[in-house]
Amino acid sequence: MSEHKDKLPNHVCIIMDGNGRWALLHDMERNEGHRQGVEAVRHITEAAAEKGISYLSLFAFSEENWGRPKRETDALMSLIVDAIHKETPTLMKNNIRCLFMGDRHHLNPDLLERMDQCVEQTADNNRMTLIVAVNYSGKWDILQAVQRMLDENPTRDMPLTQEFFSGYLSTAGIPDPDLMIRTSGEMRISNFMLWQMAYTELYFTPVLWPDFRKPDFEAALEAFSNRERRFGKIEESINIP
Ligand code: FPP
Repeated sequence: MSEHKDKLPNHVCIIMDGNGRWALLHDMERNEGHRQGVEAVRHITEAAAEKGISYLSLFAFSEENWGRPKRETDALMSLIVDAIHKETPTLMKNNIRCLFMGDRHHLNPDLLERMDQCVEQTADNNRMTLIVAVNYSGKWDILQAVQRMLDENPTRDMPLTQEFFSGYLSTAGIPDPDLMIRTSGEMRISNFMLWQMAYTELYFTPVLWPDFRKPDFEAALEAFSNRERRFGKIEESINIP
């Protein structure tokens, strides 16, 4: 394995931001920005698989996004339904498994059906796992994990370790993200994977999501390969567990 490959993140998560500003800049409606955003999703999913990334997580719709005008949330939801429908063959062709995470309550039955079909159809693919966060928030994830952990352990004699608790998060079995990319110049994690991002390297770029392409993704990977990750340790003891 080359030195560069060693420094490739195993799990990349992305906060896709700037669709609205992209539309404004091009004198278009906000929803057109989201449509162009789906193009970027296709390019980056393929680029990540080509690069050998194992897990790619995309923040498609946050719990907080319900606060937008209904016209926009309706459009976003139907865009996600359409994208899942249209892109499933591409996922199959590229041997990509697709998972979804987020609160399923209040999602429309059509979307839930498409999501479930896509998960089922791509279940045996093993080149990369794409995780799409829909109606997701990091605080929701922690609370639902606490709730399920308590429900499943009514006698409360479970080992309250980080590993045990992680098993109840939406990302159970998936390694924590190594790299988080946020587009559009905003420097926040906006309630994405709060627990999971404890030691994630953060990368912010001014590029608006609809313009984000393979060279921009490669620039983020390059920046990651130059980071020194110490996980709270000092340089000489990095390999000491
Ligand atoms: C943020 O831009 C983007 C979103 C809220 C939606 C992103 C969703 C997609 C690109 C569709 C994804 C679909 C699939 C299937 C993964 P913004 O509207 O907050 O932009 P602004 O900050 O410039 O207003």
